[in-house]
Amino acid sequence: MPEAQKTFYLTTPIYYVNDAPHIGHAYTTVAADVVTRWHRQRQEDVWFLTGTDEHGEKVLRTAEANGVSPQDWADRLVETAWKPVLQTLDVRNDDFIRTTQERHETAVQAFLTDLYDKGGIYEGSYEGPYCVGCEEYKLPGELLDGTGEFEGLKVCAIHGTPVEMLSEQNYFFRMSEYADRLLALYEEHPEFVQPASARNEVVSFVRQGLQDLSISRSTFDWGVPIPWDTSHVLYVWFDALLNYATAVGLDSADPERKEQFARTWPADVHLVGKDILRFHAVIWPAMLMAAGLPLPKTVFAHGWLLVGGEKMSKSKLTGIAPSDIIDTFGSDAFRYYFMRTIAFGGDGSFSWEDMTARYNGELANGFGNLASRTAAMIGKYFGGTLPTPGEPTEAETALARVATQAVADAEAAIDRLAIHDAVSAVWTLVDATNGYLADTQPWKLAKEPGETDESGAGADGGRLATSLVTATEALRSLAVLLNPITPKAAAGLWELLGAEASLGTLDAQQLDGAATFGVLPAGTTVTKGAALFPRLDDTTA
Ligand code: ME8
Ligand code: MG
Repeated sequence: MPEAQKTFYLTTPIYYVNDAPHIGHAYTTVAADVVTRWHRQRQEDVWFLTGTDEHGEKVLRTAEANGVSPQDWADRLVETAWKPVLQTLDVRNDDFIRTTQERHETAVQAFLTDLYDKGGIYEGSYEGPYCVGCEEYKLPGELLDGTGEFEGLKVCAIHGTPVEMLSEQNYFFRMSEYADRLLALYEEHPEFVQPASARNEVVSFVRQGLQDLSISRSTFDWGVPIPWDTSHVLYVWFDALLNYATAVGLDSADPERKEQFARTWPADVHLVGKDILRFHAVIWPAMLMAAGLPLPKTVFAHGWLLVGGEKMSKSKLTGIAPSDIIDTFGSDAFRYYFMRTIAFGGDGSFSWEDMTARYNGELANGFGNLASRTAAMIGKYFGGTLPTPGEPTEAETALARVATQAVADAEAAIDRLAIHDAVSAVWTLVDATNGYLADTQPWKLAKEPGETDESGAGADGGRLATSLVTATEALRSLAVLLNPITPKAAAGLWELLGAEASLGTLDAQQLDGAATFGVLPAGTTVTKGAALFPRLDDTTA
């Protein structure tokens, strides 16, 4: 039997349940969804994991402040906020892991026991400044002087809130032993940390040498108990990072789960924000090295969504909820906007003005109108039935070349996780098709002798037929290319094109065949349908 193809496995961070999601979380999750849908469109086997990080002091304190148990708090947030937002964003994840699930906790304990038995963990003591927002001990050099209400205190550079001095008897992971192996990893596998700016940051951090990592806490009990000393719970990051492996069957005794692990691990991509880069690019591979497990192929750290020049955050109350935007513009426009306008890897910001302008300019006029005009003309001149085209001229072959290039460029961009470049590449075909219609002017061709009969019905094999069939073929390509990016509009387009009858479902279309024109058979029923992106008047938003 041939060896089964390895599953393309991509993860988002698991988000803290201290509060509801804002568009920063949505940004990572949508990017993950676009990339995994793209791989699915290639007809690859894909596994897309997201979930929630539920242990630790931050979640515990939020629950206490709300007068409920941390488990009740986590349950409430997961059911009312974190799972529903996936629907809102039109995200197709394969699994949702919660770190309070039995499947996770059991496997985490097995991992710890194994590491302890191998001598990777020892008992010691630690004293240092701790940021509960980051759930991390800080080095003195990483702190800022507080201002205003925090005058005279040291504050976290990310959260702007005071750190707390902690002094504890803990268990430690011998992370310092892995500095050389990590540096060798970054050297031999430059693709391990991306983009290059993130890689440089990680390399210079590890070059300074690594300390051992405190991995247990005994001052509270909201965490996975340390198996050999249940007066301690596991440090929340050690617990959280393991989700990527436990979710796909690490240390499971179940044969099906073992098989899943073999097929899925290691992860191809861990998508994270740059705030949590070091955990993923330093601690996580060191943990895997210590356990003798294969390393993920890539940790990709994207930038921050900024509000007033600062990272949008739950703790600073600068968060915008995804539904604030989606209620007006829809999930497709949200996905399109953030994927198109922010170079993936860099910082970006959101503005209602820019969103409205791009919605109307690019989605409603540029793309939606292209689809409805083309369908309307097929309705008007050919009774809604795709005609037989004539011989292609240079204009048609030029458009077909644009389609071929768009697919090639978008494919390459996705492989380097330049999602914004992939969307731009797809848009070259939108623009070129609009240009093609502007040049060939089917509405004028319809008035030329021989193109239509007295009743106005178009003739097969004429220039009018050719131009509308060519535009339709470009739209068919676009439906496939946009299915990962704007899945609702792509499905609407597939429907409008009447493509399913002859070509099957949109999901089943091969990406690499998307650019080949001449696929939809003559006789296909094309209908105008509802506008894919109804124009918003500028006062709506
Ligand atoms: O860090 N811009 O969870 P978290 C862009 N539980 N992305 C943003 C963002 C912003 N302003 N704000 C948040 C944790 N994000 C841990 C992770 S993983 C094993 C454990 C996104 O709820 C971005 O992906 O603080 C960031 O890394 C993540 O949310 C942090 O979410
Ligand atoms: Mg955070």
